[in-house]
Amino acid sequence: MDNLDQIVGEARAAFAALSDPDALEQAKARFLGKSGQITELLKGLGKLPPEEKKTAGAAINVAKTAVENALNERREAIRQAALEARLAEEALDVTLPGRSEQRGGLHPVTRSLERIEALFASIGFEVADGPEIEDDFHNFTALNTPEDHPARSMHDTFYLQNPDGSLADKVLLRTHTSPIQARYMQAHVAKYGHLTHMPEIRIIAPGRVYRVDSDATHSPMFHQVEGLWVGEDVSFADLKGVIADFLRSFFETDDLSVRFRPSFFPFTEPSAEIDVAFMSGALKGRWLEIAGCGMVHPNVLKIAGIDPEKYTGFAFGFGPDRLTMLRYGVNDLRLFFEGDLRFLRQFA
Ligand code: PHE
Repeated sequence: MDNLDQIVGEARAAFAALSDPDALEQAKARFLGKSGQITELLKGLGKLPPEEKKTAGAAINVAKTAVENALNERREAIRQAALEARLAEEALDVTLPGRSEQRGGLHPVTRSLERIEALFASIGFEVADGPEIEDDFHNFTALNTPEDHPARSMHDTFYLQNPDGSLADKVLLRTHTSPIQARYMQAHVAKYGHLTHMPEIRIIAPGRVYRVDSDATHSPMFHQVEGLWVGEDVSFADLKGVIADFLRSFFETDDLSVRFRPSFFPFTEPSAEIDVAFMSGALKGRWLEIAGCGMVHPNVLKIAGIDPEKYTGFAFGFGPDRLTMLRYGVNDLRLFFEGDLRFLRQFA
């Protein structure tokens, strides 16, 4: 029966041309459906004479099986192609390195600041804060700094401009953290000044400060930690004890000399620079200046509303950037502020 071979060939070609599963099922109906070509042939068997029926029936069944096989093969091929496409689309390269969480770390200067805060907290100092954009009064006047003091000059201080380029009315980036002590004393007096025995003031004030200055040991932005202790019998001896103890704890060594070198600040009298020298290590025997300090000037207390006859106090201002350089052996201050991760990672 040539006809049968032709039908099988047609079915194979029809199935092969399709790659959509629904279209394939519809094509199946053309051959195997209720009125499909193969089905029609089977229906016609009844009309054949009995002796032909058997061979014809067998031949049609062979063709039917061949069409069914072709259909199943095509179904399987389409299913396989769909699976492969999906696998390719959703491919996951398990050899890629994973996206792990990056661990952050504290900046070395922040580490020092936290360390300084903790050490002073252990002897009863509270942390105080103040604005980085200061006014002339708190940065200078309240600190007994006269109009003609060089610190007030344009080449030492960043003054703020109005949008039209003119100079703002005595607004500047604070040149030191000392205005925080002026602000704190004023607020303290407002709170307790009516009492016969005003509670002591014991604060440290860490923060950023700004000066027109830039080289390996100076940056236009740097950090200071202000300290202030005001009470009824606070003396220079207390200042020396607190500072020496702090430095030995901070550097974790008793192998350290501390020197108070007479100096001048408008807001303290007497005033001193604090120098340290390590008795061992790479910096052995070299005096290094790390802070300014002194007894709070009576004028500063007076401006804040504190009676200098009754209360005395000391103040100091540390450079935590320099303390950090010494602690970790860093030789260029600018490394702290360039944001180079190769440098910063070493402290994480
Ligand atoms: N404010 C001073 C400075 O920036 C440091 C200092 C603080 C000195 C407190 C004495 C007392 O140089």
